[in-house]
Amino acid sequence: MGLTAAAAVPAVGFATGAQAATRAAAGTSSATDSALVFDPAAYTELTTSITDTAGAAHDVTYHFYKVSSYVANPVDVTYQGLNVSVPVSVDGVAVDATHAPVLLANNVGGYMPSSVASATGIGGGGGAGGPGGPGGPGGGNSGPNRTMLALLAGYVVVEPGARGRTLVDANGFYYGCAPAAIVDLKAAVRYVKSNRGLIPGDVDRIVSAGTSAGGALSALLGSSGDSPLYAEELAALGAADASDAVFASGDWCPITDLEHSDMAYEWCWGGNPLADGSSVDATVSADLKAQFTDYLAALRLTAPGFGRLTDRNLDEYLVKTHLEPSATRYLAALSDTDRATYLAANTFITWDGTNATFSWADFLTHVGPRRKNAPAFDAFDLSTPECNEFGTDTTATRHFTLYSLRHAEGDSARLDADIPKKRDQMNAMYHVAQQANRTRHWWIRLGTKDSDTSLTVAANFAAKLKNLGDDVDIKYYWDAGHGADDDPGDFIDWIAEVTGRPGAGHRRR
Ligand code: DHB
Repeated sequence: MGLTAAAAVPAVGFATGAQAATRAAAGTSSATDSALVFDPAAYTELTTSITDTAGAAHDVTYHFYKVSSYVANPVDVTYQGLNVSVPVSVDGVAVDATHAPVLLANNVGGYMPSSVASATGIGGGGGAGGPGGPGGPGGGNSGPNRTMLALLAGYVVVEPGARGRTLVDANGFYYGCAPAAIVDLKAAVRYVKSNRGLIPGDVDRIVSAGTSAGGALSALLGSSGDSPLYAEELAALGAADASDAVFASGDWCPITDLEHSDMAYEWCWGGNPLADGSSVDATVSADLKAQFTDYLAALRLTAPGFGRLTDRNLDEYLVKTHLEPSATRYLAALSDTDRATYLAANTFITWDGTNATFSWADFLTHVGPRRKNAPAFDAFDLSTPECNEFGTDTTATRHFTLYSLRHAEGDSARLDADIPKKRDQMNAMYHVAQQANRTRHWWIRLGTKDSDTSLTVAANFAAKLKNLGDDVDIKYYWDAGHGADDDPGDFIDWIAEVTGRPGAGHRRR
């Protein structure tokens, strides 16, 4: 099969606001715009070797499509394109992906720009969270990764690019700050859904996946489906006229709930030292920790056996619900010798032959140094990625919490008027309580040694979803750090289960 025009190397460039406005005026943002129609014939046939979870290599032949832009009025096609990979055979046996689930795997890391424009095959996207990076396929693990396993299982894989916080044009204008990344990913979902019957796969079974900032965005795709909060931005881009709700959401170490993350961080890691052995400012840490008490109360979360979750029982809740089961799974999977060695080196764990138990305080000591200073996200000196994420126009960084703003600028300072809406647009937790077209199927994963954010962020998000009756599969990976994906094959099985569309699995014989 030859390379058609649409599959050729996409135009890479930057459309100025004026060019975009001209296109918009010319009516190119219409839903029926031919630029937004997927061409099923425009593929390159490729073969790649994919190693399954049992360690066996397979030849997977697939059709690789490059869509140069998923919106009619792109701001920057380097980031607003997507790639589609459709499996056609595995080890010479034909695969029919016509009704397969669609894995929408974003590549975002660090809220940085992510591009798939120069990728020449599946998994070739780049950016800060590119392959091997925290947000990229593999999520920091060296074994089989979920993107490749999805193709091996017979699923369609869509890899969208998205604008990110560091993008700045020749006039010093920041065009990738909030809410650009989530608006782009929503536009990508709309593109896929508007091409029902043209893009192979079942567009009603889109499963989103991402790690860290990409995990936050995946959680946001899952929680904010069809929310009107993004209407203006989607219209300006000429996004396809279709739903942006996804069927399921896979979220690894989601860095979400940013405006409450400083307080959550001090509640969780406030007593842990920094890597150089020094302590954070005790007053700042205590101020933030106190704010978390009120926030937690306002969430009104409940959990079986705990009733209402408060700052008095949340530690025990985390230990019993997530951490001890994580350690138990880890220890149970070790050989007797390895388990004995681990337990001898980690005497804070009591192992009764079946279950691990320990205290929250000892667990915190076991984790060791915290990754971030206080405040962890809205730094007083504006040095964090999140302050850049809330930049705007020609301002690279801004405060997005009143606490940090007033600490830096005095008690009468007010947040910029656009900040509250942007915080909501970026916060998966915010949307769960709204009337959005939320997915009911959630896969949430986090390493127990990941101090990039508070361990409560994923736990509270999951608790809130469970309180609403959603189907939530949450696990903490014992002793794993930021970006871990320790059970990618299980995720592939889970997709089959929740979509009711069994693929060929991840372990082939
Ligand atoms: C990521 C990590 C962080 O610590 C953070 O604050 C934001 C994003 C990331 O790996 O994507």
